Parts: sequence; structure tokens; C-alpha cells
Amino acid sequence: MLNFISAENVSRQELENLFSIADDIKENRQKYSKALNGYVIATIFFEPSTRTRLSFESAILRLGAGLISTENALENASAKKGESLEDTIKIIQGYADMIIIRHHENDSSQRAVKVAKVPIINAGAGGGEHPTQALLDVYTIREQKGKVDGTQIAIMGDLKYGRTAHSLIKLLSLYDNIKIYGFSVKGLELPLQYKEFLKEKHIEYIERSSLDEIPSDIDFIYQTRVQMERLEDKGLKIEPIILNKENFARFSNHTYILHPLPRVDEISTELDDDYRSLYFHQAHNGVPTRMALIYSLMRDYYNLNPKI
Ligand code: CP
Repeated sequence: MLNFISAENVSRQELENLFSIADDIKENRQKYSKALNGYVIATIFFEPSTRTRLSFESAILRLGAGLISTENALENASAKKGESLEDTIKIIQGYADMIIIRHHENDSSQRAVKVAKVPIINAGAGGGEHPTQALLDVYTIREQKGKVDGTQIAIMGDLKYGRTAHSLIKLLSLYDNIKIYGFSVKGLELPLQYKEFLKEKHIEYIERSSLDEIPSDIDFIYQTRVQMERLEDKGLKIEPIILNKENFARFSNHTYILHPLPRVDEISTELDDDYRSLYFHQAHNGVPTRMALIYSLMRDYYNLNPKI
């Protein structure tokens, strides 16, 4: 793997290799602390972020690489003066050995890869994909369940613009006997292309219109935020789906809650102390999984033989 721009271009073996490295990083973090000494990595974020940017930057520093960064690139980088994404990439690749990019356009990472001479990581592209979020989501599922095969999961909320849901669906499709329940906010259903993708991969996708229709012994509930900033129909009346202590009470003691975060109000804070609420732990898994990804891409791209 030389870039990581879509969850669709990853094989199960590549994913498992990344997870094994992430496991090792969790156990032996110091072993990796000089792995990328002498390299510089750039993060350019054209959209806001807390988790993705800071966990990537933590991962870069914990691997011993140097970091250059533009937070709020839409305002503070030369995009503000009309520079194209392609020109920005052509410039930054002269300063950094890898570029990690978050951008508001769905095809931004594909465009970046076309002109880049360094590895590119998609850190979230418009309402399209967010493959590194899916990486840590599936890692958390594997960690909790002990395996990913046989996972039954309800994906809820904004399935139309929810890029984390799109990438999650793609990574889950690499595993056997996956069953996905979709319960979307009205008007924000999963786009046809993802339904067709699941059909092609022989993954069962069952649409539901209420929480009561989700099996009470399901393994995971993956709740998402409505991406208000991406709504094309500004007049759409949003009827939010809120998970709270009361409606979660009928789920089993082995049904776990995931959320890519940030949360607005779609998971009541009263659930935060429940042992089945994994979302904060899930976010923390962003560091070892992103360390594993950066380390692997850099190793393969530059033919490194770090002493690990
Ligand atoms: N999950 C996620 O992408 O969060 P941030 O927007 O804070 O990076």
C-alpha cells in the first residue's frame, strides 16, 4: 500500500497487517519512537477537526518524525488566495515526505494522489469517505468482539453524508457473515451506490425505521451525527435519532455503542459511564491505528528497513 485514500482499495490481509502493528504499538510503544527519525510529515486540514488531526499529529510525533501543519487551511493557506489543491500538493511535497489531507470535496484525495510524489492519506473528504476513521472503528470492533467476522451492527443517523459510515461499510465488507442494519434520519438514507456496493459484496443490509426494530442482541450500535454543514436541502426538517438510557435499556449486556464523534446530542451523556459505551476509547484507538498506517506506508514507499 502506497496511499490510503479509500476504504475500497484495501485488502483484508493489508487490514489485518495494520491491526497487528497497532496491537504491537499498544504493547511496545517505545520500540517505534525513532522509526521515522529524519522524515517530515505534513497535515493539511481544510475542514475543522479535533480527533483526526490531533491523533494523526500525535502518531507522527510518537514515530519520531517531524511535523508541519496547516490548521484551517481554507483560511490560513494559499487556497484563500485561489491556489488549486493540485498546486498546494505540488508545493507541500517539496517540504514533506507524506501528506495527510482533510478537504471538503469528495474527490480531493484522488486529485492529490494524481499529482503527488509522496504518500497521501485521506483524513476525511467531503461527504464521501473517511477511511482512517473506519480503520480505528473496525480495530475497536475486533478488539471488543475478538474478531470481525460475524459482526452484526446497526449504523444510525446520517447515512447520506456520513463519510465515516461509508468507509465503515466498505471495510466491513472484507469480512464474512456481516449483517448491517441501517436506521437513518428521514431524508438522509444510505445512497444507492453504497447499497449496490453491499449487494455486490453479498452483505446483508436491512433498512429499519425505528430503534425498536433493531435486534436487542445486536453486537454494535454505530451512531452518527447529522452533518448539518453538508445538507443540500436546507429546508429538510430533521427528526433526530437520540440514543438514551431509556431506549438503550432493552439492548443486551453485550451490545456496545460506537460513535466516530463529535457528538452533538444523538447520544445522551447519561450513557457515557455505561461499560458498553466505547466511543471515547474508540477515539483513543486513533493513535495506534494511525501510527500503524503511517509507519506501514512510509516503510513501503521509501523502502525503509527500520530497526523495529
Ligand atoms: N471523527 C472525526 O473525524 O472527528 P474530527 O472531525 O474531530 O476529526
